[in-house]
Amino acid sequence: MKILGLGLVAVFVVVTLCACYPKRVGPAGPDGERLTWTAMNKNQRKAHMRKVVLPLAADVFQAWRPERYARVDCTLCHGDNAHWEDFQMPTSHLPRLSGALLLGPEFEKHPDTTRLKLDRLVPEMAAALGLKPFSLITCRGFGCYSCHLGPEGPLFGN
Ligand code: HEC
Ligand code: HEC
Repeated sequence: MKILGLGLVAVFVVVTLCACYPKRVGPAGPDGERLTWTAMNKNQRKAHMRKVVLPLAADVFQAWRPERYARVDCTLCHGDNAHWEDFQMPTSHLPRLSGALLLGPEFEKHPDTTRLKLDRLVPEMAAALGLKPFSLITCRGFGCYSCHLGPEGPLFGN
Protein backbone atom coordinates (compact mmCIF):
# COMPACT_ATOMS: atom_id res chain seq x y z
CA MET A 1 0.00 0.00 0.00
CA LYS A 2 2.79 2.34 0.97
CA ILE A 3 4.68 1.51 -2.24
CA LEU A 4 1.55 2.00 -4.34
CA GLY A 5 1.09 5.39 -2.69
CA LEU A 6 4.65 6.41 -3.51
CA GLY A 7 4.16 5.17 -7.06
CA LEU A 8 1.08 7.35 -7.44
CA VAL A 9 2.93 10.34 -6.05
CA ALA A 10 5.75 9.69 -8.53
CA VAL A 11 3.29 9.46 -11.44
CA PHE A 12 1.58 12.62 -10.28
CA VAL A 13 4.91 14.49 -10.05
CA VAL A 14 5.98 13.31 -13.51
CA VAL A 15 2.62 14.28 -15.02
CA THR A 16 2.61 17.73 -13.43
CA LEU A 17 6.24 18.35 -14.44
CA CYS A 18 5.68 17.29 -18.05
CA ALA A 19 2.20 18.56 -18.72
CA CYS A 20 2.52 22.22 -18.02
CA TYR A 21 4.82 23.60 -20.75
CA PRO A 22 4.53 26.04 -22.36
CA LYS A 23 3.28 28.02 -19.36
CA ARG A 24 0.84 30.91 -19.54
CA VAL A 25 3.15 33.88 -18.94
CA GLY A 26 1.68 36.54 -21.22
CA PRO A 27 -1.29 38.91 -21.42
CA ALA A 28 -4.86 37.58 -21.44
CA GLY A 29 -6.03 36.05 -24.72
CA PRO A 30 -9.53 36.03 -26.24
CA ASP A 31 -10.75 33.36 -23.76
CA GLY A 32 -9.58 35.46 -20.78
CA GLU A 33 -6.73 33.02 -20.03
CA ARG A 34 -3.13 34.23 -20.19
CA LEU A 35 -1.31 33.42 -23.44
CA THR A 36 1.76 31.22 -23.68
CA TRP A 37 4.91 32.62 -25.37
CA THR A 38 4.20 30.33 -28.31
CA ALA A 39 0.69 31.72 -28.73
CA MET A 40 1.68 35.41 -28.55
CA ASN A 41 1.78 37.49 -31.73
CA LYS A 42 4.81 39.58 -32.67
CA ASN A 43 3.68 42.72 -30.84
CA GLN A 44 2.84 40.76 -27.70
CA ARG A 45 6.25 39.07 -27.89
CA LYS A 46 8.01 42.41 -28.24
CA ALA A 47 6.11 43.78 -25.23
CA HIS A 48 6.94 40.67 -23.18
CA MET A 49 10.62 41.00 -24.11
CA ARG A 50 10.64 44.67 -23.12
CA LYS A 51 8.72 44.25 -19.86
CA VAL A 52 10.05 40.94 -18.57
CA VAL A 53 13.12 39.67 -20.43
CA LEU A 54 15.13 42.90 -20.77
CA PRO A 55 15.10 43.80 -17.01
CA LEU A 56 15.96 40.20 -16.12
CA ALA A 57 18.85 40.11 -18.60
CA ALA A 58 20.10 43.49 -17.35
CA ASP A 59 20.21 42.08 -13.82
CA VAL A 60 22.09 38.95 -14.81
CA PHE A 61 24.64 40.63 -17.12
CA GLN A 62 25.25 43.51 -14.70
CA ALA A 63 26.00 40.98 -11.93
CA TRP A 64 28.76 39.70 -14.25
CA ARG A 65 30.30 42.87 -15.77
CA PRO A 66 28.57 45.95 -14.35
CA GLU A 67 30.50 48.47 -16.46
CA ARG A 68 30.30 46.74 -19.80
CA TYR A 69 26.57 46.05 -19.39
CA ALA A 70 25.58 49.28 -17.62
CA ARG A 71 23.00 49.89 -20.37
CA VAL A 72 21.46 46.99 -22.23
CA ASP A 73 18.83 46.92 -24.94
CA CYS A 74 17.38 44.51 -27.48
CA THR A 75 20.68 44.47 -29.43
CA LEU A 76 22.41 42.70 -26.53
CA CYS A 77 20.96 39.42 -27.77
CA HIS A 78 19.49 40.24 -31.19
CA GLY A 79 22.36 42.41 -32.47
CA ASP A 80 21.78 45.08 -35.11
CA ASN A 81 19.04 42.93 -36.61
CA ALA A 82 16.80 44.31 -33.84
CA HIS A 83 16.89 47.65 -35.69
CA TRP A 84 15.30 46.00 -38.74
CA GLU A 85 12.68 44.16 -36.67
CA ASP A 86 14.42 40.83 -37.23
CA PHE A 87 14.36 38.93 -33.93
CA GLN A 88 15.22 35.47 -35.25
CA MET A 89 17.14 33.40 -32.66
CA PRO A 90 19.66 31.77 -32.38
CA THR A 91 21.79 34.46 -34.01
CA SER A 92 25.25 34.84 -35.55
CA HIS A 93 25.51 38.11 -33.59
CA LEU A 94 26.56 36.03 -30.54
CA PRO A 95 29.77 33.97 -30.36
CA ARG A 96 29.30 30.41 -31.62
CA LEU A 97 29.60 27.70 -28.96
CA SER A 98 31.34 24.33 -29.31
CA GLY A 99 28.28 22.08 -29.47
CA ALA A 100 29.70 19.90 -26.66
CA LEU A 101 26.71 18.69 -24.63
CA LEU A 102 28.42 19.10 -21.24
CA LEU A 103 29.99 22.45 -22.22
CA GLY A 104 33.58 21.23 -21.62
CA PRO A 105 35.26 23.84 -23.88
CA GLU A 106 33.02 26.63 -22.53
CA PHE A 107 33.86 25.76 -18.91
CA GLU A 108 37.54 25.66 -19.81
CA LYS A 109 37.70 28.99 -21.67
CA HIS A 110 34.93 31.00 -20.00
CA PRO A 111 34.18 29.42 -16.59
CA ASP A 112 32.49 32.48 -15.05
CA THR A 113 30.14 33.22 -17.93
CA THR A 114 29.25 29.58 -18.35
CA ARG A 115 28.44 29.17 -14.63
CA LEU A 116 26.37 32.36 -14.57
CA LYS A 117 24.44 31.39 -17.69
CA LEU A 118 23.79 27.91 -16.40
CA ASP A 119 22.82 28.98 -12.87
CA ARG A 120 20.87 32.14 -13.68
CA LEU A 121 20.32 33.22 -17.29
CA VAL A 122 18.99 29.94 -18.67
CA PRO A 123 16.61 29.07 -15.80
CA GLU A 124 15.38 32.67 -15.38
CA MET A 125 14.77 33.15 -19.10
CA ALA A 126 13.09 29.76 -19.46
CA ALA A 127 10.77 30.71 -16.60
CA ALA A 128 10.13 34.19 -18.06
CA LEU A 129 9.13 32.63 -21.37
CA GLY A 130 7.31 29.72 -19.70
CA LEU A 131 9.40 27.28 -21.73
CA LYS A 132 10.82 23.99 -20.56
CA PRO A 133 14.50 24.36 -19.59
CA PHE A 134 17.04 22.37 -21.63
CA SER A 135 17.18 18.70 -20.69
CA LEU A 136 20.33 16.60 -21.09
CA ILE A 137 18.08 13.58 -21.61
CA THR A 138 15.91 14.86 -24.45
CA CYS A 139 18.43 17.45 -25.74
CA ARG A 140 15.51 19.81 -26.19
CA GLY A 141 14.29 22.87 -24.30
CA PHE A 142 15.43 26.43 -23.64
CA GLY A 143 19.21 26.57 -23.20
CA CYS A 144 22.50 27.97 -24.50
CA TYR A 145 21.57 27.15 -28.09
CA SER A 146 18.32 29.09 -27.90
CA CYS A 147 20.59 32.16 -28.26
CA HIS A 148 23.94 30.89 -29.57
CA LEU A 149 24.69 28.96 -32.77
CA GLY A 150 26.87 25.84 -32.82
CA PRO A 151 29.96 25.50 -35.07
CA GLU A 152 27.83 24.68 -38.14
CA GLY A 153 24.54 26.35 -37.30
CA PRO A 154 21.58 25.90 -34.96
CA LEU A 155 21.68 22.90 -32.61
CA PHE A 156 19.32 20.82 -30.44
CA GLY A 157 16.09 21.59 -32.26
CA ASN A 158 16.52 25.38 -32.24
C1 HEC B 1 18.72 38.29 -22.97
C2 HEC B 1 18.55 38.12 -24.40
C3 HEC B 1 17.43 38.85 -25.09
C4 HEC B 1 17.13 40.20 -25.03
C5 HEC B 1 17.84 41.29 -24.25
C6 HEC B 1 15.99 40.40 -25.90
N1 HEC B 1 15.62 39.20 -26.47
FE1 HEC B 1 14.10 38.93 -27.80
N2 HEC B 1 14.48 36.90 -27.83
C7 HEC B 1 15.48 36.27 -27.11
C8 HEC B 1 15.39 34.84 -27.33
C9 HEC B 1 16.30 33.79 -26.73
C10 HEC B 1 14.29 34.63 -28.20
C11 HEC B 1 13.77 33.29 -28.73
C12 HEC B 1 12.88 32.66 -27.68
C13 HEC B 1 12.37 31.31 -28.14
O1 HEC B 1 13.04 30.32 -27.87
O2 HEC B 1 11.30 31.28 -28.75
C14 HEC B 1 13.76 35.95 -28.50
C15 HEC B 1 12.67 36.16 -29.34
C16 HEC B 1 12.14 37.41 -29.62
C17 HEC B 1 11.00 37.65 -30.49
C18 HEC B 1 10.22 36.57 -31.22
C19 HEC B 1 10.88 36.26 -32.51
C20 HEC B 1 10.06 35.29 -33.35
O3 HEC B 1 10.65 34.71 -34.26
O4 HEC B 1 8.88 35.13 -33.09
C21 HEC B 1 10.78 38.99 -30.53
C22 HEC B 1 9.70 39.72 -31.33
C23 HEC B 1 11.78 39.61 -29.67
N3 HEC B 1 12.59 38.62 -29.14
C24 HEC B 1 11.87 40.97 -29.44
C25 HEC B 1 12.76 41.56 -28.53
C26 HEC B 1 12.75 42.97 -28.21
C27 HEC B 1 11.83 44.01 -28.83
C28 HEC B 1 13.73 43.16 -27.27
C29 HEC B 1 14.11 44.44 -26.53
C30 HEC B 1 13.03 45.08 -25.81
C31 HEC B 1 14.34 41.86 -27.02
N4 HEC B 1 13.72 40.93 -27.80
C32 HEC B 1 15.38 41.63 -26.12
C33 HEC B 1 16.43 36.89 -26.32
C34 HEC B 1 16.46 38.24 -26.00
C1 HEC C 1 19.27 34.53 -23.59
C2 HEC C 1 20.38 34.43 -24.48
C3 HEC C 1 21.59 33.67 -24.04
C4 HEC C 1 21.65 32.40 -23.52
C5 HEC C 1 20.49 31.47 -23.19
C6 HEC C 1 23.04 32.09 -23.33
N1 HEC C 1 23.82 33.15 -23.72
FE1 HEC C 1 25.86 33.21 -23.79
N2 HEC C 1 25.81 35.15 -24.35
C7 HEC C 1 24.64 35.89 -24.54
C8 HEC C 1 25.01 37.30 -24.68
C9 HEC C 1 24.02 38.44 -24.88
C10 HEC C 1 26.43 37.37 -24.60
C11 HEC C 1 27.29 38.61 -24.58
C12 HEC C 1 27.57 39.12 -25.93
C13 HEC C 1 28.26 40.47 -25.87
O1 HEC C 1 28.70 40.91 -24.82
O2 HEC C 1 28.31 41.07 -26.94
C14 HEC C 1 26.89 36.00 -24.42
C15 HEC C 1 28.24 35.64 -24.35
C16 HEC C 1 28.69 34.34 -24.15
C17 HEC C 1 30.08 33.92 -24.18
C18 HEC C 1 31.26 34.80 -24.56
C19 HEC C 1 31.85 35.36 -23.31
C20 HEC C 1 33.02 36.29 -23.60
O3 HEC C 1 33.54 36.85 -22.64
O4 HEC C 1 33.39 36.46 -24.77
C21 HEC C 1 30.11 32.58 -23.89
C22 HEC C 1 31.32 31.67 -23.78
C23 HEC C 1 28.74 32.17 -23.65
N3 HEC C 1 27.91 33.26 -23.84
C24 HEC C 1 28.36 30.90 -23.27
C25 HEC C 1 27.05 30.50 -22.98
C26 HEC C 1 26.69 29.21 -22.43
C27 HEC C 1 27.66 28.10 -22.12
C28 HEC C 1 25.32 29.21 -22.29
C29 HEC C 1 24.42 28.15 -21.70
C30 HEC C 1 24.79 27.66 -20.39
C31 HEC C 1 24.84 30.51 -22.76
N4 HEC C 1 25.92 31.26 -23.17
C32 HEC C 1 23.51 30.88 -22.81
C33 HEC C 1 23.36 35.40 -24.57
C34 HEC C 1 22.97 34.14 -24.14
